[in-house]
Amino acid sequence: MNAVLERTAPLYERVRHIIPAIEWPSFAEEIDAILELKRRRNAVVLAHNYQTPEIFHCVADIVGDSLALAREAMRVEADVILLAGVHFMAETAKLLNPGKTVLIPDMEAGCSLAESITAADIRMLRQRHPGVPVVTYVNTSAAVKAESDICCTSGNVRKVVESLGVPRVMLLPDEFLAQNVARETGVEIITWNGHCEVHERFTPADIRQLREDHPGVIVLAHPECPPEVVAEADFAGSTAMMSDFVASKRPTRVALITECSMSDNLAVQYPEVGFVRPCNLCLHMKRITLPKIRTALEDMRHEVTIAPDIADRARRAVERMLAV
Ligand code: 13P
Ligand code: SF4
Repeated sequence: MNAVLERTAPLYERVRHIIPAIEWPSFAEEIDAILELKRRRNAVVLAHNYQTPEIFHCVADIVGDSLALAREAMRVEADVILLAGVHFMAETAKLLNPGKTVLIPDMEAGCSLAESITAADIRMLRQRHPGVPVVTYVNTSAAVKAESDICCTSGNVRKVVESLGVPRVMLLPDEFLAQNVARETGVEIITWNGHCEVHERFTPADIRQLREDHPGVIVLAHPECPPEVVAEADFAGSTAMMSDFVASKRPTRVALITECSMSDNLAVQYPEVGFVRPCNLCLHMKRITLPKIRTALEDMRHEVTIAPDIADRARRAVERMLAV
């Protein structure tokens, strides 16, 4: 066995259920180089739950949903944070670590929700609804966060909305998340017409078909799905909440109505659980690959920067969320 394969053999043990042996040598080469670069650069890799298993299980130091990545970013001691995820996640890490170098392996890794709304839109909405607090989903640019009162993620949205103690809030830009929360809280919610291009594609008919094809399957849906889809599911929650559900309940068969890598990553940890697809791919998340992570650490690019006047205001909205 060559030295690289020998060094990475324990990592392959983790992912062997999901990565065919024939594919491993090319992954191993990149992983070995990345592990060495992390040491050399004093860097940590934060990876979202939608990253592929070779990233999630083999090079990430910290994994989780958007909320966990934001919380953990605050505790990082390394000099460099590489965010294996999409741009808004890297911006959030930078907001919370203004003195550190934050890298994203592909600047084009965006998000349909973040692209659906601008800072000018928020200012217009404030004029239209004076006095109504603005809650922005963390899936937004720093410029949008800077115009808001507080941020939220799918993991704390209900808590954040209820913490405001008012009968009406603006929750932007995810229309479906807002409708799902309005249903749960009884708070009147003004929203926007942003959608996640991954979750908007699921339909109630998909879930009914799934139940017919796989009797007894437990269905977990992300709250970015349309309310009619969430209504057909057994449970709705953030990606971390779905992981926790699988970890604690160990269902015989489960369908995760979300991005595809979520099931792959959980299948590595819980080989006894049967994961039933359908799933949809997030092409933004899939822009992040091992070769791009390696290049990012070799060349120290692409560095995420935020103009100071925007950063100070955006940080306040994120920190207010983290304090709830
Ligand atoms: P989570 O915060 O639930 O991980 O969701 C982030 C995201 O982009 C979902 O599409
Ligand atoms: Fe954005 Fe949806 Fe991709 Fe998440 S899955 S990053 S919300 S487009």
